Amino acid sequence: MQKHDSSDLSWDEFDEMRDPRPEENGFDAVVDRAISRRGFLGGALAFGSGAAVFGSGLFDSAAAMTKGFKFQPIDIATDYDIHVPEGYDWKVLTRWGDALFSEAKDAYSPETGVSVDMSDKVFGENTDGMELFEVDGKQLIAVNSEYVRPKLNLPADAEGTPRSADEVKLLKNLQGVTVMEVADNGNGYEVVVDSPYNRRITHDTEMMLAGPLAGHDLVKTKADPEGRTVLGTMNNCGSGKTLWGTYLTCEENFNGYFGATGEMPVGDGYKRYGIGGEGRYAYEKFDPRYDISNEPNEPHRHGFITEIDPTDPTSTPVKRTALGRFKHENAEMVHAKDGRIVVYMGDDERGEYLYRYVSNGTYVEGGSTEGLLDDGTLYVAKFNDDQTGEWLALTPETTGMSAAEILAFTRMGASAVKGTTMDRPEWVAANPLKVEAYCALTNNKNRGKKPNKGGDDISVNGPNPRETNNYGQIVRWTPADENHASDSFTWDLYVMAGNPTVYNNAYAGSANVNEGNMFNSPDGMAFSSDGMLWIQTDGNDKNEGEFAGMGNNQMLVGNPETGEIARFMTVPKGAEVTGLCWSADKKVAFVGVQHPGGQWPDGNGKPRSSVVSVWRKDGEMIG
Ligand code: FEO
Ligand code: CA
Ligand code: CA
Repeated sequence: MQKHDSSDLSWDEFDEMRDPRPEENGFDAVVDRAISRRGFLGGALAFGSGAAVFGSGLFDSAAAMTKGFKFQPIDIATDYDIHVPEGYDWKVLTRWGDALFSEAKDAYSPETGVSVDMSDKVFGENTDGMELFEVDGKQLIAVNSEYVRPKLNLPADAEGTPRSADEVKLLKNLQGVTVMEVADNGNGYEVVVDSPYNRRITHDTEMMLAGPLAGHDLVKTKADPEGRTVLGTMNNCGSGKTLWGTYLTCEENFNGYFGATGEMPVGDGYKRYGIGGEGRYAYEKFDPRYDISNEPNEPHRHGFITEIDPTDPTSTPVKRTALGRFKHENAEMVHAKDGRIVVYMGDDERGEYLYRYVSNGTYVEGGSTEGLLDDGTLYVAKFNDDQTGEWLALTPETTGMSAAEILAFTRMGASAVKGTTMDRPEWVAANPLKVEAYCALTNNKNRGKKPNKGGDDISVNGPNPRETNNYGQIVRWTPADENHASDSFTWDLYVMAGNPTVYNNAYAGSANVNEGNMFNSPDGMAFSSDGMLWIQTDGNDKNEGEFAGMGNNQMLVGNPETGEIARFMTVPKGAEVTGLCWSADKKVAFVGVQHPGGQWPDGNGKPRSSVVSVWRKDGEMIG
């Protein structure tokens, strides 16, 4: 069997390996061509009121950085530990392999990881998006397990590649979604083992396909000739919460699970979505469902947003095809002024797009939700250089595609209407106190260098102003008429990450970035109820070269009004911070620590992806 060497790569690196860009990419040469820092600020000052604060001098001193925050910002870290501000504390809530049911209490061993027979009764690996729900006075967390690290999960002699159907099953079971009850019985929050709400949803859980693509020929398979019943949700990245209290889990890098053992099926969609050749984890060799030579339509049944009712452990998850198919990062749902439902969604791949779904029907609190996520219109964002923008509807008229094709091959629709190619759209967060939204554009080393898989224009543009962008930025938009369903908006950059100790040009970042708070690759984002923007990073933590002084990945808090940003938390080397929700009383933050290095948190055996709780020692609210 051919060996895979791709399982250790980040998803971004995996994309690059399959589809390499041309050589000739020295960072020095790029900097030479880049706009000057002064030039950027000049441009930014011409922008809207938020951006104007970049030049106000507010950020010149460390003292100014603490203005408006309830904590003393912390320094960077480079160790295998977690750090929070003075007056705060943290502890692990749950780790990869921890039991959800008492029968699985011995499922995890520091030497061998999780046993296959208990692998769907424990907390999965690589925690990601999560949301908290309240039901009958109890608190439930629904949380994603994005992917697994085969080398940690499989015996050493497997060298990171499954060799049997059982080993594939183990890997599949440790991904997906966990619903778990949590409670603080005096010793801080713990998972309530054996709670009737506890549930694992994996690659093999039966779910329903809903919306206009359900029942279409594109989603029919041998096992499901009706095209309406799908097994599994996969590569669950970010999350969302509906206004009616259900969980939205977002299927991101689903493409990597499929491979062809024989002839490749024909269709432009495979290439655009990075599907073909050998799968990343060799699933197709042991489970024919993942073999596109056998089931060419199976990949068309993934890459959606799936709705789960965490309050009913017997409920069937529903894949909402109306929200489009792409590498979904998260789903930020807001209630538009006119009563319609709006969902903002990023497609996390270099040069792909930012989307919005608007329902046709309106929602009234406590009223029917029928059709709200099945009947509506998808839009792609177009950002103009003059800081205006518009949402371009994806319809048969605008795209030349059928309604079903728009949902199955949404990226191609976005290309057809010429949306703005973005620097890897990650989470979108909407300000609860103001009609505005933010999207983290994590980085894009191909900006200005190499088109996306659709061949679209990747020249620098307004919200993506730097070639070979290794640092990332956060774009913010304000819908017209204070209505998220409006088709036009104005925008600015809330922050452009960079390193002012290495560069004195655009790569130094915007003026609200300084030596004391610098970071790279913003990714997860969420607003706390007090209107502060929490920013989580998934970046380069080598702490040298262009990343010198940035340390490990971190969580920062941004003030939307002043632009100030302060570092709140650092995570162990190797880890990214992703996923954030708060206890019902807002006194505890639950934070996800994905793919840590070293032997964190146990201090022996394997590193274990974990959710941690963080609180103020004085018992005050933090969320
Ligand atoms: Fe799973 Fe784009 O992060
Ligand atoms: Ca992410
Ligand atoms: Ca990321």
